[in-house]
Amino acid sequence: MTNIGILVGSLSEKSYSQKIANYLMKEQLPVKFVQVNYEILPLYNPDLEHSPILEWQIFRSVIDQMDALVLVTPEYNFSIPGGLKNALDVLSVPLPPAHIVHKPALVITDSSGERGGANANAHIQQLLRYMGMNVKNDFITIGKVQEVFDNQDRLVDQQVAKELDGAIKSFIDTIE
Ligand SMILES: Cc1cc2nc3c(=O)[nH]c(=O)nc-3n(C[C@H](O)[C@H](O)[C@H](O)COP(=O)(O)O)c2cc1C
Repeated sequence: MTNIGILVGSLSEKSYSQKIANYLMKEQLPVKFVQVNYEILPLYNPDLEHSPILEWQIFRSVIDQMDALVLVTPEYNFSIPGGLKNALDVLSVPLPPAHIVHKPALVITDSSGERGGANANAHIQQLLRYMGMNVKNDFITIGKVQEVFDNQDRLVDQQVAKELDGAIKSFIDTIE
């Protein structure tokens, strides 16, 4: 079965990005979703590669087992959160970045404002392509994300649900 790793850009317990990821993972689809946590990764430092940090090695080997990645992230200060960038830096080395090169990726961004993290979306697509990932040419931005879920965390915005359903199905079609 196809394994799809999910990286969520927010570490907040109340994260809307996490709610979006949860919605995707609950869909009845012929793939296995695995959320891969990265918050314990030490900050990347190339000087430490001569005896690589255990957390980096485990994280890289888990990503190796994924056939594709879905990245769901909020926008922080016009870009992606630093923790997620650190995780991507860890995956990008040693060169060539065997852990992610040619791997399909789907990007979803969200924000409390209307633009749905459009800047973060553009930034992360650019950096994933730079790292050699096969990024799906979709631009999924969920604005006013706090209005998309009810107080029991159910996705109640049908337009957003339709967009997410269509995007994930089309992504799976392209990787299978
Ligand atoms: C440090 C920080 C920086 C943010 N910067 C932006 C930003 O540049 N643009 C934007 O639209 N929203 C910004 N926001 C709002 C977040 O996108 C919004 O709160 C989002 O819901 C957070 O994601 P989460 O619910 O998954 O934690 C920022 C929030 C934080 C905490």
